[in-house]
Amino acid sequence: MLDNLISKTLNNEKSNTPVWFLRQAGRHIPEYFEIRKEETNFINFCLNEDLIIKSTYLPLKYYDLDAAIVFSDILMIPWAMKRNVKFTKNFGPTMDPMIPNETKILENISINSKLEPLKNSISYLRKKLPNSIALIGFAGAPWTLACYMIEGKGSKDFIETRKALWSSHNWFMKLIDTLIVHVADKLEMQAKAGADILMLFDSWSHMIPNNFFYEYAIKSTAKIIDILRSRNIFAPVIGFPFKAGASIIRYSFESKVDCIALDWSVDLPWAIMNINKDIAIQGNLDPASLIPSRNKYLRENVLTILDIMKDRRFIFNVGHGLTPDCKIENVKEVISIIRNYNRNI
Ligand code: CP3
Repeated sequence: MLDNLISKTLNNEKSNTPVWFLRQAGRHIPEYFEIRKEETNFINFCLNEDLIIKSTYLPLKYYDLDAAIVFSDILMIPWAMKRNVKFTKNFGPTMDPMIPNETKILENISINSKLEPLKNSISYLRKKLPNSIALIGFAGAPWTLACYMIEGKGSKDFIETRKALWSSHNWFMKLIDTLIVHVADKLEMQAKAGADILMLFDSWSHMIPNNFFYEYAIKSTAKIIDILRSRNIFAPVIGFPFKAGASIIRYSFESKVDCIALDWSVDLPWAIMNINKDIAIQGNLDPASLIPSRNKYLRENVLTILDIMKDRRFIFNVGHGLTPDCKIENVKEVISIIRNYNRNI
C-alpha cells in the first residue's frame, strides 16, 4: 500500500486528515492558461500526454497536497463513443443530442483504445510522483453521462433526459447498462496504469426522479464496482452523488463505494449520524468561500469541519469544484490550517 494519507484513510486506518481539491488542476491558477494555449481544442488537450502531465502537476507546484487528479474530462467517454463532443468557450460542452431509441450507441465498442494517452500519462505520473501523493483516476457516473448525451449540453433541469427516461424506459436502461461497462472499462484501465484511487462524479444525480435514484445512482455504481472487483481491481472508489440530499444515506450503504464525497449543501453533523459508518467521507467546504480575499469566516469554517469530522475517516476537500475566481492564497491558507490542526491533535 502506498504510504500516503489518502490511501491510509481509505484503507481503514485513521490517519491525519489528508487534503486535495476538486478541480484543483483547472483555471484558478493563471499558469493553466499558458499550458492551455498550447492546444486550443479541449479534446485534443485531453489527448496530449505532455499537456495532461503538465496540468496534473500544476497544482502540486503551488500547494502541499496529498493527491493529484489526472487531467482529463468526464466527457471523454461520450467522445470515445463517437459523439461529436465540443467544448465552446463561455458556453461549455456540447454534442449532438441523442434521439431516444437510437440503437447505434448501444453497439459493443471498446473506448479504451481511444484513450491511450490517458493511460500512458497515468503510468508516467505514477512513476514520477512521490509515494506520499496519491494519484486519482476518474469517470463520470452513467446517469450524468446520459444527461449530457441526451440533452446535448448542460441544462437547468435535464427535461429531455427525464422525458426519455419515462417515454423510452427500456432503451434508457440499455443506455445506462452500456455506460456502466464503458465506465468500468475506463476505471479499470486507469487503475491498471497506476491510479491508486478512483472517483465517480455523479454531478447531475439530483436530476434523477426520486423513485429511480436507487436504480440509476446506487445500483449502477454498485454494478461498476462489482465489475472492477471481479476483474481484480481493488483500488478504493470515491462516489460523488452531487446534491442528492437525503438519498445519500441509502447510497452510502448500498452503492459499495469506499468513500462518499459530500457536496457543500450537506449538513455534516446530520451526515455523520445517518450515513454508513464503515465508509470514509470526503468534503465539503463551499468552494465559494475561497473566492473573497481575506474572508474572515474561512478559518473558523475549516476548523469547524475538522472538529466535526475528527473521529471519522475523513478527506478534506471542497464540496464541488474550485471556481476560476478562487484565490490561490485562500487555498494555501486552508491547507496550512489543516496541517497545523493535524500537528496539534
Ligand atoms: O482538477 C481538475 O480540473 C481535473 C480535471 C477535470 C476536468 N473536468 C477538467 C476540465 C475533472 C475532474 C473534470 C470533471 C467534470 N467535467 C465534471 C464533474 C465535476 C463537476 O464539476 O461536477 C463535469 C460535470 C464535467 C463536464 C465539463 N467539462 C463542463 C461542464 C465543462 C465546462 C465548464 C467548466 O466547468 O469548466 C468542462 C470543461 C473543463 N473540464 C475544463 C477543465 C479544466 C475547462 C476547459 C477549458 O480549459 O477551456
